[in-house]
Order: sequence, then structure tokens, then C-alpha cells
Amino acid sequence: MQLTPLQIKGGRQIGGEITVQHSKNAALPVIVASLLTHEPVILHGIPRLSDVYTILDLLAHLGTVHRWVGDNSLELHTPEILNTDAPYALVSKMRASFIVMGAILARAGEATVSMPGGCAWGPRPVDQHVKAFRALGVEITEDGGNFDARRSASLSGRFTFELLTVGGTHNAILAAVLGDGVVILENASIDTDVVDMVEFLNSLGADIEGAGTNTITVRGVPALRGGEYTVIPDRIEAGTFMMLAAATRSRLTVNNVRPDHLRAVTAKLQEMGVEITEEAGRLIVDATVRELKPVNITTQSYPGFPTDLQPQMSALLATVPGTSVVQDPVYPDRLTHVAELHRMGANITVSGYTQVIQGADLHAAPVKAADLRAGAALFIAALTTEGETVIDGVQYLNRGYERLGERLRGIGASVRQPDLALAMD
Ligand code: EPU
Repeated sequence: MQLTPLQIKGGRQIGGEITVQHSKNAALPVIVASLLTHEPVILHGIPRLSDVYTILDLLAHLGTVHRWVGDNSLELHTPEILNTDAPYALVSKMRASFIVMGAILARAGEATVSMPGGCAWGPRPVDQHVKAFRALGVEITEDGGNFDARRSASLSGRFTFELLTVGGTHNAILAAVLGDGVVILENASIDTDVVDMVEFLNSLGADIEGAGTNTITVRGVPALRGGEYTVIPDRIEAGTFMMLAAATRSRLTVNNVRPDHLRAVTAKLQEMGVEITEEAGRLIVDATVRELKPVNITTQSYPGFPTDLQPQMSALLATVPGTSVVQDPVYPDRLTHVAELHRMGANITVSGYTQVIQGADLHAAPVKAADLRAGAALFIAALTTEGETVIDGVQYLNRGYERLGERLRGIGASVRQPDLALAMD
């Protein structure tokens, strides 16, 4: 969908309060997990984002009927699985949709899912998903870009992931929930989004132990019931707004936050000189107290510094005098923001997955987002500069930030664009 660019005039402080949406990356697997029950579920805290609409299109193809029952509340009902395939047209729009494989397999015994392919910032492999399935008794063949998976019995056995993968952990858990086997996953992701999906599934009657630790045990149950669940707040959106406050040297209250999900981010901003006060469910971020200092960061799996905040942090550090080093070994090619920040005067040298950043004042320029978090880096950079920055590629921002223009205006930012809100249910 072609959207009009975002026009931003920055160079002044923002302030007041902003409320974080619920987590996109937790909502998507929770929506997929609803496929495991034939009874209706009601989910609260579902952000109205294009990625959510994409997964709902995919679920509709599989047999799910959905209905919005509130601004961010969704009723989902899958009485039976009508199709066991996830076509390329839908999977290629969003790589996260590969986790439908586990859910379809659990419910229907067989699944055909297209290879998700790469994305704007490099390959997104699924080898660990496939190895986990095979180790747990699933037969998988790959043919013409499709994975065909089939199980003749309940999944059972033990699998040790070769690296920490959020999606791989989701997929293996989903496949193992129904039946009479016992599955033990080692070196499993301890990400908040894994914990959230497990808490949802357990609330429907699943028997999953150890989420939030590296060893997860799934004991199969015959069926799940319906239920109601609220998704966690979005720690990546919260981190984005914290970095926006720091980059604009402002004081901002960020509401609807789980401070325990943001420890690595809070610690880095504090190391830079940002004052952060924790209150129940919110953080007060104050970058007006002292001059900010450069820092070094390396991304890691949760609870380390998230790759999903690396471009935003790079934009912030591009405004902080001195030398900072940013390394993203989780996604070494996640660098599409760099060339665009160069257009705004940033001094960033790239070598492999390392950015060496010499902080300086940025200036307005026409730029283009090539992916979601690069888009976030660009609106942060734009709000630090006087003059008008025009950001193209707004459809990427719509994948992760709900009603962004309206909410940024609410904290005093000058942002023009026919609103980013989507109304397409
Ligand atoms: N990996 C493999 N093989 C696999 C799976 C992953 O080598 O089979 C590697 C990846 O290449 C990467 C690392 O493992 O280096 C971690 O990938 P992971 O599987 O954890 O990522 P994901 O589940 O595909 C989710 C988020 C991403 C986020 C990553 C990392 C969703 C929908 N996506 O992806 O979010 O970057 O975890 O935290 O939850 C975003 O929101 O902008 C976004 C891209």
C-alpha cells in the first residue's frame, strides 16, 4: 500500500506522557496459538497494525473467524481447520507467520508452509524450526519452496536448540501442546514473547513448564478450552520512545511499561546520563539533567540489548558528541538505517556488523525507511533536527507503531501525515 510520506519538523523538546501499545511481537504468536482450541478466545491488547491484519488474513484462510469486540480486543474462533497450507503470498509478507506450521500441525496432523525467504536486512533462516520438528518426530520435506510437515503420532522427545531463537521456540511449543507426548526443549529462548504465549496457552489448559528459563517441558493435553487473555506491553515501542526522549534531550513519561522487560535498555540510557525513574507501570525518562555521553552496545537475545532497538539507538548515538560503537551480531545486516542517517549528516562507519558512530548535529533531509525499525530510527533522527524531514516508506512504520503520527503530536512533535491509523477489519 502506497502511503503519503511523513513530514516532521524537529529541533525542539517533546514532553508530557505517551502510552505504549501492547506488544506486536507477543500478540502475533498469541493470535496464532488461538488456532489450538476449537472454542472461542478473546484477546485484549491487540495493536491495530498491518502485521496483525496480515496474520488475521492467514488465519481466515485456515478457518478462523475473527471479530473486533473493542478497540484492541479481538474474538477468534477456529471450530475446525479448513486448510492446512499457508500460501507464499501471505507468509512472504511477514516472516513471523512461519510459526503457523506448529499450530496447524498440532491441530490437523499435517501442514504445508512456504519458505519465508529473506527480508530487507538479510536472511531469516528457519533451520532450527525444522531441526526441532524432526527431532520430535515430525516428517518434513522441502519441495519447490514449500515445507511439507506430517506427524503420525504426538510429538515427543528432547531437542537442544543450537542458538536462541524466539520463533523456533514458539513453533516447537505450538506443535507439542496437543496429544499425549512429552517434549523437552533445551537452550530455549527466554524471551518475554515466549513467556506470554505460554501463559496464554496454559490459561486455556495447556501443560507447559519452564517458560522464561532455558528448559521448557511441554506435556501434551487432549484439548484446550476457550478463554480470555491480555497481551503484555510492547517493550520495543517503549524503548523507541525512551530513545526519542533522549535524542531530543527531553523529559517524557512513558506509560504502560513493564520496567523488568527493559533492564538492558534502561541501564544503557542511564550509562549515557539519562535519568530514569521507575514507577508502577511507567518510566519517567529525563534527558535534560546532564550532557549525554557516548556508549558502546552489543545486541543479544533477551534479556540483553534487543536487536529491535539497535537502529533507534544508533540514531540517538549519532546525536551524542564522542565515539560510540554499536554491534548487532543477532542480525548482522540490519543496517538499512545507516545510509539514510548519512543523508541527515550522521557520521557512521560500518565494518561487518559494527557501526562506529561519531556524534554530531543532524540536519533535515528526504529519507526512506526500508524496514520497520529503520523507520523508527529515522523519525527519532528527524525530531532532533530543525527543518523538515520527509520520511518515505511509511508502510513499514504501520507494521509496528499504532497511530504513530497522532501519538507523536500528543507529546508536542510536529508530524504531518494523513493519520497512520489503519481501519481495515
Ligand atoms: N536463527 C537461525 N535459525 C533459525 C531461527 C533463527 O539461525 O532457525 C537466527 C536468526 O538469524 C537470528 C537469531 O537466530 O540471528 C534470532 O532469531 P529469532 O528466531 O529469535 O527471530 P524471530 O523469532 O524470527 C523475532 C522478532 C523480530 C526480532 C527477533 C530477535 C517477531 C514477529 N519477530 O523474530 O522482530 O528481531 O525475534 O529478537 O517476534 C521486529 O519487530 O522488528 C522484528 C524483526
